[in-house]
Amino acid sequence: MKIPSHVGIIMDGNGRWAVSRGKKRSYGHKAGSDNVDRITTHAFNRGVKVLTLYAFSSENWERPKEEVDELMRLLKVYFTKYIKKILKNKIKLFVMGDLTKLSPELQEIIYKDMEQSKNNDEHVLNIAINYGGRQEICYAVNKLLSKNEEITVDNISKELYTAPFGEPDLIIRTGGEKRISNFMLYQGAYSELYFSDVLWPDFNEEEFDKALEDFSTRKRRFGRL
Ligand code: IPE
Ligand code: IPE
Ligand code: MG
Repeated sequence: MKIPSHVGIIMDGNGRWAVSRGKKRSYGHKAGSDNVDRITTHAFNRGVKVLTLYAFSSENWERPKEEVDELMRLLKVYFTKYIKKILKNKIKLFVMGDLTKLSPELQEIIYKDMEQSKNNDEHVLNIAINYGGRQEICYAVNKLLSKNEEITVDNISKELYTAPFGEPDLIIRTGGEKRISNFMLYQGAYSELYFSDVLWPDFNEEEFDKALEDFSTRKRRFGRL
């Protein structure tokens, strides 16, 4: 089977998963964060090199404060709890997005985790937090302007957060919606898209394998014949 080297996942559906069980949305976010470890382990076992997970968008700040606070709390727990496993499995942890808006405490944990795992090269776990594809393009263009470099397709690519990790071969969105919601707009130009109706907390190894099987039937042409 042809395994995509870089997979991006829009992990959607936590809130609906909880509400359908008569629970609060935060209950779904907890289940969703537990699923991150399960799918990360599985994807790397399958041979995926880079996994980019959309955890919190630039627009997710518009949610009620209580929900944003809970998501930030879960991120802190995640980065504190899983670093041992990340180091043991030779995973390079990277967090992409505008991190300046996160609490100083969370920023410190994230930078420490990234520093500790920076020499790992077996796999990359890239987590998008306060991330937006449009914002990323502006960030890249501004960097070029500040260096007085030409705005070209290649130069923009080189300034994107994902520059060292390449473009996603496959983007999966769980939770039934068929949209990109500002995820990797530039580097996703030729990504294969896979939409699953399964809500993120239920998106297990078997569901991930269905996405891989579907990917392996795709004929990628990149505009050529
Ligand atoms: C995805 O689940 C997680 C984040 C966006 C942080 P949602 O919270 O969007 O869940 P639904 O889509 O409302 O069910
Ligand atoms: C996309 O999901 C963001 C993440 C999964 C982190 P949203 O639930 O925020 O997207 P929309 O609002 O359905 O487009
Ligand atoms: Mg959603």
